[in-house]
Formats: sequence, C-alpha cells, structure tokens
Amino acid sequence: MRQTALITGFTGQDGTFLTRLLLGKGYQVVGLARRISTEPPRRVRGTLDFAREIASGQLVLAEGDMLSRSSLDRALRRHQPTEIYNLAAQSHVAVSFNQPEFTVETNFIGVVNLVESLCAYGDDWRMYQASTSEMFGDARDQTEMDERTALQPTSPYAIAKTAAHFYCRMKREQGYFISSGILFNHESEIRGGDFVSQRIVRGVVDFVSSGGEPVEPLELGNLNARRDWGYAGDYVKAMWLMLQQASPGEYSVGTGTARTVRQFVEAALAYVDKKVEWRGTGVDETGLVDGRVFIKVNQSHFRPNDVNYLAANSARARRELGWAPETSFDQMVGIMVDAEFNRRLRP
Ligand code: GDD
Repeated sequence: MRQTALITGFTGQDGTFLTRLLLGKGYQVVGLARRISTEPPRRVRGTLDFAREIASGQLVLAEGDMLSRSSLDRALRRHQPTEIYNLAAQSHVAVSFNQPEFTVETNFIGVVNLVESLCAYGDDWRMYQASTSEMFGDARDQTEMDERTALQPTSPYAIAKTAAHFYCRMKREQGYFISSGILFNHESEIRGGDFVSQRIVRGVVDFVSSGGEPVEPLELGNLNARRDWGYAGDYVKAMWLMLQQASPGEYSVGTGTARTVRQFVEAALAYVDKKVEWRGTGVDETGLVDGRVFIKVNQSHFRPNDVNYLAANSARARRELGWAPETSFDQMVGIMVDAEFNRRLRP
C-alpha cells in the first residue's frame, strides 16, 4: 500500500530535498504550508516537477499553520499520513534575537501543537523532529558533540528548539514514535540567501562576474566561527532512515569536520581559482582578492551570542542507521557556486 508522509515546512531547503526523496520512494507526500506559501517559491518549483506530481496526486499541497492546532488536526484527519516530518521553523538564528516571541511560538509551541494533535489522532504514525546542533551552544571543550552531550542553548532559536527537543523526548518516553535528528549545518544550491554559505557563494559569483570592475565588498560578521557543514541532500536521507527503525531515538548528524567561516570563503574562491589574502584583525580584518577588497567585517552581522564551534560525532547514526555523508565539503561548495552561475544565466 502506498505510504503517505506529511511534511511541515516543505517549501524550505530540507522540505524540498525530502519531498524529492520521498516521491522517488513512491510515497504520497502532503506538503503542509501556510497560506502565504502554498504557491511554492521559485526554488521549490525549480527542483520539482510540481505540475506532474500534483496532477497524479502524488504530491498534495495542504494549508496549515503550526500555530493553528485545528488546521493540524484537519490535515491529519484528511490525509491520514503515517510518517510526519516536522521541518517548519523560524530557522535563522540571528533573526531569533530580534523576534524571540515568534521564534519560540513557531519552534516550540508549534511542536507542542503538532505532537498533541498527533497523539489525539491515533497510534499509527511516526514523527521526525528537526532538532539542531545549535542546542549545544558554546561548548567550552572543542570535542565532537553527540546525543549525550549537554545542551547549553544561547539564542532564542536554540532555546526554543531545545524545549521542543525535550518535549519530544518526554513523549517518546511515554511510548510515542518520535525521533529527533540533531542536524549540524547543512547547505545546498537552494539554501536561503541569509545564511553565511549562500552569502559567501553569491559574493564570490558577483566578484568573478564583475570582470575586474569595482564591486561592493562582501560584509560578513564572525569569521572565526567554526561549523560542521554538510550537504542537505545527504541529510534528509538520515531523517527518513530514522523513521524506518524498530524504535525511535535521537541521532547527531554531521560530517565530524569543523571549518571556519574564513575557510568557507577560501574554499569558494579556490573553486573559481582565486586566492584571498587576509589583512588586519578583528573588525578591521579585510580579505583581498586580485588586489581588491573582497571581504570586510561588519559589526552588524555579529550576534549578541554566537556559537563558536560545532562538530558532530555521528557514530550512532552511522552504526544504527547506516548513514554517512556522501558529498564532501569541496563538492558541496562547487555545487553551490555552479548553481549560482547557472541561475544568473537563466534568471
Ligand atoms: N548568517 C550569517 N551572515 N552568518 C554569519 C555571517 C553573515 O554575514 N558572518 C559570519 N557568520 C557566522 C555566524 O555568526 C555563525 O557563527 C556562522 O556564520 C553560521 O551562520 P548561519 O549560516 O546563519 O547558520 P547558523 O549556524 O546560525 O544556523 C544554521 O545551522 C543550524 C544547525 O547548526 C541554520 O540552518 C539553523 O537553522 C540550524 O539549526
């Protein structure tokens, strides 16, 4: 029998990759989105043949909002999914400092709504919750982090995600099948333009496309922050695998290698055969390429609290799920740069 999966936040980067994965496995996918986003954004339209999937009924768009319990109840009753992937979130950490209430409502209260709606809906379901490495906060010792590492969230985003993580754990202990993926940073060619990876990629493509004409320097914040960056297309496979296990659990998902923002800049430039020369320190640091200032530090991109170091120990995911990252860091950077060049050729 055909399985039905419901994805909240399906218009985002991960929702797009997961939708593609599940459609490929023969699932019927119900994409839940707020009214404002039921017209799929361009990045989703560009990667999925929506017309065909929608006409065949393999992909169904459903209106719903994490803050409207009745809309969640209705979507569950109507579509009867057996797998539910909760990817809906206010996912930008910096934004969460300016919009703490909205972030907590969406990322925590929204999860409570969904979980309670599921508990009332029946027993035949499994849920995936998108937890995050941001929950680890600023680890003082620079070791790898896994499911047992203490959580010390330091942003409204991470605090809300941590509360949701504990809520899901509580329900799991009551016998519900809810698995949480503690995903480290994952990027792709359809990453939103506010995240540092895509800002860097677009800056590099602007620079190369300028053909030597002056361009505005790319202004970044904390160049020393280290993140464990992987490819989003690989990470959605871990989400699916978590719901195919005999029992639910928590899994850290990442590559195990941390790189600085500065190294991301260097990798993106290396892909287009450019080299950066760093000068100065702190807020006065600049990055020169071909003798021109390409990177400037701008204080406005710093966060009140930043997480300085994240690196995953994914031993459990590797052992129990048989999951491993397939795309290297350099390959991922290349995919993003190529896609940005292509987007400009075919706007
Ligand atoms: N966005 C941004 N813009 N970040 C910058 C910039 C800049 O101009 N300059 C430096 N950074 C630093 C940030 O301070 C942070 O330390 C790092 O680059 C990564 O920032 P983001 O790409 O915005 O991602 P994030 O780590 O805050 O959060 C992402 O990963 C989490 C998983 O660990 C998001 O995808 C979250 O939703 C996700 O949970």
